[in-house]
Amino acid sequence: MKSATPLDPIPLRAQFPALQLKVGGETAVYLDGPGGTQVPQSVIDAMSGYLRHGGSNSGGPFLTSHYTDDITNAARAAMMDFYNARRPAEIVFGQNMTSLNFSLSRALAPTWQPGDEIIVTRLDHDANISPWLLAAQDSGVIVRWLDFEPTDCTLRLDLLPDLLSEKTRLLAITYASNAVGSITDVQRATELAHAAGALVLIDSVHFAPHGLLDVQAIDCDFLLSSSYKYFGPHTGILYGKYELLDSLTAYKVRPASNKAPGKWETGTQSFESLAGVTAAVEYIASIGGETGTRRERLVQAQTRIKAYEMALSQRFLLGATQVAGLRVFGITDVENLENRTPTFAVSLAGMSPKDVATRLGEQGIFVWHGDYYAVAVMERLGVQNEGGLVRIGFVHYNTAEEVDRVIAALANLR
Ligand SMILES: Cc1ncc(COP(=O)(O)O)c(C=O)c1O
Repeated sequence: MKSATPLDPIPLRAQFPALQLKVGGETAVYLDGPGGTQVPQSVIDAMSGYLRHGGSNSGGPFLTSHYTDDITNAARAAMMDFYNARRPAEIVFGQNMTSLNFSLSRALAPTWQPGDEIIVTRLDHDANISPWLLAAQDSGVIVRWLDFEPTDCTLRLDLLPDLLSEKTRLLAITYASNAVGSITDVQRATELAHAAGALVLIDSVHFAPHGLLDVQAIDCDFLLSSSYKYFGPHTGILYGKYELLDSLTAYKVRPASNKAPGKWETGTQSFESLAGVTAAVEYIASIGGETGTRRERLVQAQTRIKAYEMALSQRFLLGATQVAGLRVFGITDVENLENRTPTFAVSLAGMSPKDVATRLGEQGIFVWHGDYYAVAVMERLGVQNEGGLVRIGFVHYNTAEEVDRVIAALANLR
């Protein structure tokens, strides 16, 4: 493959109406991507286009229902490319990642015996912890915790072999932390867990806007993400190996399909959102150029996005060293940016995370504070009782100037 040309955010930003927002006369700085990204005009058009066209529920013998089925099939094909799944039936849509994970946990729990074990990690968002804690409680299953290294917030995969045994049924693991940005070697984790006979479920919600997903290369059994974290609407998307989706018993209503993916898609889908999901995948693919298959363009796009975001991370980390009292959690070594997303959890000495976020917000710089549901991360770092941390998250539509603006604003806060 030819080497990717550097990404220029300016023409891409022009596609996002929300990025024009002004606060106090200055253009707003969206550093809240890990909590949800903005959407390009093409996504807005796709969603409103569906509603304008005249839709219907699925499966009817008339035009608008056929149209709805076409929209659904297109979204499944788009997500198949996005995940590199083998077949459309491996793609399941749902309300959001959390709801899909609860469905899955309710389906897997009855396959476990009392005394079996599952593994969750302290680096995960609670949406990939609580469903498993509750399922374990229901089934009398023992929960083992995989820790992370508090100095750089990387997952201790070296401890995984000792946690795994022939009793392990599931490893629920994050691809990247939504709090501190550390990326996990999920392929290695999957190899280890499979060697012990356990299933592997990956939360890729935070990773998805920052890198290429490839479920076949990882060989995971399940993987989840949410389109609103990567320039699309509020819809969750589950990948599952077909044999598993087909054989597991889903909680479903009697008339619903007995086959995957239909048996997992409870109720009526948000079809306008599915139109938006396709447009979001197309938007990302467009960053990879105009030639090649959509999957090839996605590969190229994520290469460009990764290189661009690493440059933003480097600029942020170098700037952060100049701000008195600013502490950055997670990987701070600029030689190791490959292994993190441009998501930074920080604290500023003498100010609460809430005050920092509020003061930045007043200046039109949007950042989150608290735990962002990464409760286990905050507890492990010992900051949960201090109001958590401030999260500064970049995506590819952020610019070097925005990095400088947040650094300057932080320096001026104290
Ligand atoms: C890493 C991670 N996992 C899971 C979730 C939950 O996703 P959803 O809002 O789609 O339920 C989030 C949301 O912030 C997240 O960042």
